[in-house]
Amino acid sequence: MYYPLKDLKKTPNHYPPVFDETDWNEHFDDGHPPEILDVGCGKGAFLFDLSEKYPDSNVLGIDVRHIPIKWINGVIDGEKMANVSAMWYSVANGMKFIADNSVDKIFYLFPDPWPKRNHLLRRAFNEVLLTEFQRCLKKDGVLYLETDVDYVDEYHKKILEKQGGFDYELIPTREEWAMPLTNKEKFCIRKDIFVYRMICRLKAGFCQ
Ligand SMILES: C[S@@+](CC[C@H](N)C(=O)[O-])C[C@H]1O[C@@H](n2cnc3c(N)ncnc32)[C@H](O)[C@@H]1O
Repeated sequence: MYYPLKDLKKTPNHYPPVFDETDWNEHFDDGHPPEILDVGCGKGAFLFDLSEKYPDSNVLGIDVRHIPIKWINGVIDGEKMANVSAMWYSVANGMKFIADNSVDKIFYLFPDPWPKRNHLLRRAFNEVLLTEFQRCLKKDGVLYLETDVDYVDEYHKKILEKQGGFDYELIPTREEWAMPLTNKEKFCIRKDIFVYRMICRLKAGFCQ
């Protein structure tokens, strides 16, 4: 699931569907595409808070795990939430269903840590995905990154520098971050674990 389907010899069981288009009427009451993406939305606490913080935007959560996505969409249907939806999908396959230059904010918060450094090669966050984020973001769009793992933070910086399309700024405090808490972030605060936060903006001339 962490590899693009096209690179696998056989489709593993429970690999999320791969598609290039979607009907946004099935996701949002107004039928418009999303302006905010929460990639790796997990159980959706942050996704729900985002949809309340930005009631005039459509907010899409994406996660490779089916059970939390089904649960989130059940809550959305039950509560009749108009501007939020969750999609079972692996971003390792790109995000062709998101139009160029259409997204205000992409959140990529607390991606799974891999226990060994050589697993960095398997991370979904690579130059290809970053270029995909760049394609989807509007000129003044913002990519938000958070992790509690030092080598993942270093890896993010390395990929950002190699890919070259973004300027990034380290955000030292939660107050300056000014976003709702994710489940993982709540855990880090409870356990007094340091969180690395970064805001990335498209370099001039690098938007699509
Ligand atoms: C450590 S959890 C963090 C969840 C949430 N963002 C938070 O901060 O509480 C990482 C999430 O990323 C999801 N994930 C991992 N690889 C993914 C991929 N290729 N595409 C979409 N989601 C992915 C996992 O299923 C998991 O829910």
